[in-house]
Amino acid sequence: MARVLATVLNGRRRVDAVPDNLLLLDYLREVVGLTGTKTGCDGGECGACTVLVDDEPRLSCLTLAASVEGRRVDTVESLVHNGQLSAVQAGFHEKLGSQCGYCTPGFIMASVGLLRRNPNPTDAEILEGLGSNICRCTGYVKIIEAVRHAAALQAEGVAP
Ligand code: FES
Ligand code: FES
Repeated sequence: MARVLATVLNGRRRVDAVPDNLLLLDYLREVVGLTGTKTGCDGGECGACTVLVDDEPRLSCLTLAASVEGRRVDTVESLVHNGQLSAVQAGFHEKLGSQCGYCTPGFIMASVGLLRRNPNPTDAEILEGLGSNICRCTGYVKIIEAVRHAAALQAEGVAP
């Protein structure tokens, strides 16, 4: 069965016909063409597929596209404004929070969700906020520094 799916995707209303069993990850990458959201484990273990649904981080590989009907969905592509990196993107860039970069979009979206609900997280809160995300390269120290730096940029007025 197919259904009509209406969302606000990266700030714009979008309507598509989608199969009932289509995953949000596949909808974003294959129907919409937003390939910033990555497929990692494809089973809820790595966080590479994290997007925001109404500002809450969500594993898109475990989410049916149909379940976000009427919701606001944000992917990593939503973050750059007028060529300016968001606070979290700048944090990861300036503090060397990524190496191979495959996990980075998921970490960035989880961090954006964290900073939207808690603008000044402690290191423990950062670790908890990123608890669904795995990086196989960095060892996490740089990632925590990146989120701390992003929080400071956000305090100066840069959107997360
Ligand atoms: S691809 Fe979704 S958690 Fe790994
Ligand atoms: S930077 Fe390579 S997996 Fe995280």
